[in-house]
Amino acid sequence: MKLNIKLVCVALLVAGATSGWTMEDGDGDRQEQTVASARTAKPTIDPITTSVSNIIFRMHPGSALSQKKIAFLKRYPKECKLIDHDYYDRGFNMSFLDPFFVLAMNFTEQLISRNLGRTIRVCDFGCGIGHTSILLGLLGSKEQIHVLGIENGMKADEFEETKAFHAYAERLHGQLGFVGGLPVRLKTDVEATTLQGYSTYAPSNVFDVNFMGNFLHMFAPKAAKNLVKEHAYRMLRPGGMLLASFDGICAAGNNIEKAKEVYLQAKQEGKKFPSVINILDLAIVTKYEDEIKDIEHIEEIPTIYSSAAVSEDGQTIEPCRKTIIKKCFLNVTPLGISGLQKTVCFYDSGLIELVFPKSQWSVTVYRKDIYGQYNPDLRDHEVVKWNLIAEKK
Ligand SMILES: C[S@@+](CC[C@H](N)C(=O)[O-])C[C@H]1O[C@@H](n2cnc3c(N)ncnc32)[C@H](O)[C@@H]1O
Repeated sequence: MKLNIKLVCVALLVAGATSGWTMEDGDGDRQEQTVASARTAKPTIDPITTSVSNIIFRMHPGSALSQKKIAFLKRYPKECKLIDHDYYDRGFNMSFLDPFFVLAMNFTEQLISRNLGRTIRVCDFGCGIGHTSILLGLLGSKEQIHVLGIENGMKADEFEETKAFHAYAERLHGQLGFVGGLPVRLKTDVEATTLQGYSTYAPSNVFDVNFMGNFLHMFAPKAAKNLVKEHAYRMLRPGGMLLASFDGICAAGNNIEKAKEVYLQAKQEGKKFPSVINILDLAIVTKYEDEIKDIEHIEEIPTIYSSAAVSEDGQTIEPCRKTIIKKCFLNVTPLGISGLQKTVCFYDSGLIELVFPKSQWSVTVYRKDIYGQYNPDLRDHEVVKWNLIAEKK
C-alpha cells in the first residue's frame, strides 16, 4: 500500500500535479458497453496525466462511452461557496478541483483494483455538499467500495444540489457497468468530533481511506487532535491511509506579509501554537437578525492579524472560524461598520506533529506555494496549503 501511494504521489508531483481534463474524441458509436465487458476490461490509468474522469471511465477507454464522458465533464461540480450558519466560516466546497483529490481517487482505485477480497471503505470527513464522496462512489460497485460522507452543516438548498448530483451519479454508475446502486452514504447532520452512534456506521479498524479535504483547519488544535485520534485513527484499519489538505499561514488573506510577521514573532516568543491567529476585519454589516446575515467588506482597509491566545492543551478562547462581532462603531446595533474577528487555526510543522503523533502515524507532507505549486523548499510560514498523507501504524 505504501509503495502505491508513494508512486502516485511522485507521479503527480513530477507532473506538476496538473489535473487538466483529457477528453477522447469519438463518434459515440460504442458508447453503450455491457456490464460483462465493463467487468472484463482492463483499467487504463496513466498516473502522469490522469484526471478524475480518466479514473472514473478507466474501464471504458478510447471512444467507449464518449458521450457520457463529455456529459460528465460538463456536469462536473463547480466551485461553490458553502452557506454559513451562524456566521461560521465554512469556506468553499472545492476539493474536487484539487490535484490532491485526483491522488485520493487514484489511490482508492488502486486499492479496488488489487481485489483484496473485501469492500474498500472510505470516510470523507467534512464532505461539504458531498461531491467528493459521490465522485469516490463512482469508482466501483457496492461489493468493491463504500463511501461514508460526514458533514454537520448541510443547508436545505445545498441538499437540493447534492440530491441532483447524486441522482446524476446514480445513473452514471449504472452506465459504467456497476450494479447495486451508488455506494455512497451521506450523513449530513453528523458532528465529526463526536460521531454519535458511530458503532453503526463508523466502526473501528475497518476503513481503508480517510479523506479530509480542507477540513482540519476548521478546528482548534485540541479538537483537531482529539478528532484525528478518537475517530480518524480509530476507524482506519492498521495500514489505512488518511489524506488531508489544510491551510498554511499564507492562506491568511489580503495582508499575508503581516500574517507571516505575526507567526514568526509568536514563534520567536516560544508560543506553543504560533500558527493560530486572530483575524480582524472592518466591515459593514447590512443585515442582522440575531446573527450576521450579510456584510460588505471594505477592501481598502487591510486585515489586522494578531496572535491568538491558546491554552496549553490547544483550546482557543473563541471557537475556530466563527466570526464574532467585536466592536460596533457609529451605531449601537451590529448594523453598520463593525469589527469582525475570527480565530483561525493555520498549520505549521509543529501543529502537524501534535495532531499526527509519530507514535501513531507515518506522515508525509507536501507544501504548496501561493502559485498552487508543490515546493519542498518552502518554509512553514510560506505554505498556502499543506497536503498530508498519513499511514496508521
Ligand atoms: C472548508 S469546507 C470543505 C468542504 C469539502 N471537504 C471540500 O474541501 O470541498 C469544511 C467542511 O467541514 C464541515 N465541518 C466543519 N466542522 C465540522 C464538524 N464538527 N463535523 C462535521 N463537519 C464539519 C463544514 O460544514 C464544511 O462543510
